Amino acid sequence: MTPLRLGVNIDHVATIRNARGGGHPDPVAAAKLAAHAGADGITAHLREDRRHITDTDIIRLSEEIDLPLNLEMAATDEMLAIALKHRPHAACIVPEKREERTTEGGLDAAGQHNRLKRFVDQLSGAQIRVSLFVEADERQLEAARSLGAPVVELHTGDYANLEGAAREPALQSLIDAARMGTAMGLEVHAGHGLTTANVGPVAAIPELAELNIGHYLIGEAVFVGLEEAIRRMRNAMDDARLSTQSVRP
Ligand code: PXP
Repeated sequence: MTPLRLGVNIDHVATIRNARGGGHPDPVAAAKLAAHAGADGITAHLREDRRHITDTDIIRLSEEIDLPLNLEMAATDEMLAIALKHRPHAACIVPEKREERTTEGGLDAAGQHNRLKRFVDQLSGAQIRVSLFVEADERQLEAARSLGAPVVELHTGDYANLEGAAREPALQSLIDAARMGTAMGLEVHAGHGLTTANVGPVAAIPELAELNIGHYLIGEAVFVGLEEAIRRMRNAMDDARLSTQSVRP
């Protein structure tokens, strides 16, 4: 079974900081704590409107953090130039709409093949591991493969928004997509809306290599502290992984 990494998204530490201006709480300090608590990577989304993470945060994260940095970015020339300058370990291309509250839906890699090709090629040429944030859909996986992206991140928002039996089809789509993507030679990640209460069935998908989780961890940090919130998430992921192993022949 593929080991499952936890990427901690620190965007909303910056959201709280920006509510008052100034420097507190510092997302880079949060990234250091996350490393201490067992995160395998740090994820940050530099949005066009800089509503949370700023350019300075990206510079500091590149310089001060030992963990691999996964830069979430829209496919724009501005973001491409920033990524090529700072060369994060990975870049996850996400769709971005100015008016949205968070990343709604996956990238249409199939419909935007020609537009995305240049971004995937230039990032890959700079040794940045490119990931495309897509829905659990065969067409999108095929498009990622034909674009030459080594990684896809499956959007877990639909799964996370549903409960009980209603979420089973969304979970099955994630299971099928993880299997299909891996068979195509892609590394498969997942994220969006995951919590300790809903992460289990996703973490149990054996082909998944990484989960990127942010909003819940930062919210939970208010109650139990960031390190404890991350430890609890790590434990929930590990428990789910172990239970899959024990039911497999
Ligand atoms: N993965 C991607 C590509 C995202 O855009 C986001 C949200 O920024 C996440 C994961 C994390 O989602 P959440 O903050 O809901 O855990």
